[in-house]
Amino acid sequence: MKITVVGAGAVGATCADNIARKELAEELILLDIKEGFAEGKAIDMMQTATLLGFDTKIKGVTNDYSQTAGSAVAVITSGLPRKPGMTREELIGINAGIVKGVAENILKYSPDAIIIVISNPMDTMTYLALKSLGLPKNRIIGMGGTLDSARFKYYLSVALNCNSNDLQGFVIGGHGDTTMIPLTRYATYQSLPVTELLDQETLDKVAADTMVGGATLTGLLGTSAWYAPGAAGAALVESIVRDEKKLFTCCVSLEGEYGQSDICLGVPVIVGRNGWETIIDYKLNESEQASFNKSADAVRAMNAVLAEMKLV
Ligand SMILES: NC(=O)c1ccc[n+]([C@@H]2O[C@H](COP(=O)([O-])OP(=O)(O)OC[C@H]3O[C@@H](n4cnc5c(N)ncnc54)[C@H](O)[C@@H]3O)[C@@H](O)[C@H]2O)c1
Repeated sequence: MKITVVGAGAVGATCADNIARKELAEELILLDIKEGFAEGKAIDMMQTATLLGFDTKIKGVTNDYSQTAGSAVAVITSGLPRKPGMTREELIGINAGIVKGVAENILKYSPDAIIIVISNPMDTMTYLALKSLGLPKNRIIGMGGTLDSARFKYYLSVALNCNSNDLQGFVIGGHGDTTMIPLTRYATYQSLPVTELLDQETLDKVAADTMVGGATLTGLLGTSAWYAPGAAGAALVESIVRDEKKLFTCCVSLEGEYGQSDICLGVPVIVGRNGWETIIDYKLNESEQASFNKSADAVRAMNAVLAEMKLV
């Protein structure tokens, strides 16, 4: 099994590191456009192999897509990260050209690859991949809700003072600060609804902290976060290559599900060998559906920029 990660920056390298530690592939190609950068990161990671005891062979390459040939999964992290004060939307013009070019190059050498899009603005980059590549929809997965759901559970665990692994909960909708929807009503602590364990004020704060979770870290770090985004990307790769059929919130093509069409948006899906396999239909109440529709409107407005740029 061969996996490619494009972009050897903070998120891509962390994703590759997690993939190698979990031995999800025999061969892992790390590709970047910056001369020598991926090579350096790959050698550094390979020098941890005897310390960590993994067998995955990581190879770094500068823009040489022939080396990625035959990859089962390709994770796209190439693009600019969000700077403090910059919205994901502002990134669109720059990252759209990068993501489209990268995805086309990947498919030239790995026509059967499942594509995981991480580059921001992720919902729009996923839609761009869906519209421009002509692949079956199940092979295009946007990673955003997987991370946002992990952040939601982190903030819930702090509020409940509990082990975050005892929590279930997810965030649907867009990946932007104002477009994501933490589904508090469905979150549980070992089957107990969190709505029975925390007061409304605390629940509202958890949801608000989750929604600005990325921006909070960007403010603290001076650039966007990488440990959790990289781990979230690797968790999706793991569910694909091991055919785990785990439930994650992913950005996928909607054709009427959750009341939306012609858009890629975060919903709970089963992830397995074929990419995303099934959308799970959690019944939304009126206000959740209204938030979801509002989120779709905001993402659709960003997607319109792609048409203006003649990219779709
Ligand atoms: N979806 C999410 O949940 C999520 C979370 C965090 C970050 N992100 C996004 O992921 C992307 C990467 O973030 P980062 O912090 O790793 O940034 P980074 O700057 O550390 O890394 C980006 C890398 O992409 C490379 N690159 C640029 N153009 C390229 C091309 N055409 N081909 C190959 N490589 C190219 C750069 O040289 C750089 O090494 C950003 O768009 C960021 O906003 C998304």
